[in-house]
Amino acid sequence: MKLQHIDIHSAITALSCALDLVGVDEIRHGKRVAVIARAIAQHLNWSEIESLSILYSGMLHDCGVSRIHEHRQITEMLEWEGAEGHCIRGADYLSACPPLAHLSAEIRYHHTRWENLLKLPVDDRIRLRANLLFLADRIDVLQTPFLNTGRILIEYPAIIDRIKTLSGILFAPELVEAFADIADVEAFWLAMEPEYLDEDLQRIGSHIPTTLLDIPALKELARLFSRVVDAKSPYTDEHSQRVAHIARQLAIDFGIKGYELEQVEIAGLLHDIGKLRVSEDIIDKPAGLTLEERATMHRHSYDTFRILQRVFDDSKIPVWAGFHHETLLGDGYPFKTEKKELDLECRIIAVADIFQALAQQRPYRHPMSLEYILNDLQSRVAAGRLDAEVVAKLTENADLYFRLAVI
Ligand SMILES: [Fe+2]
Ligand SMILES: [Fe+2]
Ligand SMILES: [Fe+2]
Repeated sequence: MKLQHIDIHSAITALSCALDLVGVDEIRHGKRVAVIARAIAQHLNWSEIESLSILYSGMLHDCGVSRIHEHRQITEMLEWEGAEGHCIRGADYLSACPPLAHLSAEIRYHHTRWENLLKLPVDDRIRLRANLLFLADRIDVLQTPFLNTGRILIEYPAIIDRIKTLSGILFAPELVEAFADIADVEAFWLAMEPEYLDEDLQRIGSHIPTTLLDIPALKELARLFSRVVDAKSPYTDEHSQRVAHIARQLAIDFGIKGYELEQVEIAGLLHDIGKLRVSEDIIDKPAGLTLEERATMHRHSYDTFRILQRVFDDSKIPVWAGFHHETLLGDGYPFKTEKKELDLECRIIAVADIFQALAQQRPYRHPMSLEYILNDLQSRVAAGRLDAEVVAKLTENADLYFRLAVI
């Protein structure tokens, strides 16, 4: 078990990939905002620590956005009514996550105009950091239509001019000045191309002292991301958190303990993180899915697997989480792995996932009664898809598990 070797830079970078998936078509918004904000901070001679933490804030700034429709508004308009919603949500999530709670206040104000920020009782440092996020964020919105095309090199002077007209109104004059200083060269814009962006983030990570996360901190991070995923749809409220509780309890019933137990819980919390890429139009759809929609839905567990591999490369978490739609018959997805290769922990999470989902309302059905759910699980066991022992353990203590699922 190497969970204790995970450092905060790679964890935040990888998890921000999941947040960026909400953009669907344009999936690196958070990372570009991060890199732009850090470049301006460095130009202003902010300390290494301040420049690095604004990079992390940039990557996480839209953690209050789970729904694709909201993401579109964010990336298509400079200002819009209702922008505050995701700032408040994001700040809430972060303040409940001790390793990142110090970023909460700046995320809270990352869509507040400078002229309004000046009137608020906010600490000077937070005010400037929040506004730097706002500036970097809006720069990215202005450049998005021209990204990855040669046009950005033609359009960037107009973007700089536009930002200058907003100095003192939307943005702090000193930040606008710093941006204008560093952005008047092609290299600034070309560095935003996907492969360069990823390389730069990796390089930054390799040049900073490693800050290792302990298990409680990792769990807090996982809990934060589970909240973002569950907020995707009113139907999946608390789904990941409850799956994690059920899986943890099942694992305890099977005698699993220590690091292994903690990993089961983290895998449960993060099993649906790949769903951030799936449109809520599909998740909330009341009737049957089209072939195309089903295919989009089915990619989520593979995305989960790949995202978690970036964070937990040396652990079993990517497998335990990413295999939650595999079946013992080998007709699940995305690997079609058969029983002999499915760890007990994979089988536990698969059962916990179905159990909780059946107990919860879905757009196409009511929540099911405990009796119905146990029958349903039994029929899946009889068909050879779900693990008989896991379902038996759950059935032994059915009332307790039902409480973990819904109450
Ligand atoms: Fe935002
Ligand atoms: Fe799933
Ligand atoms: Fe799930």
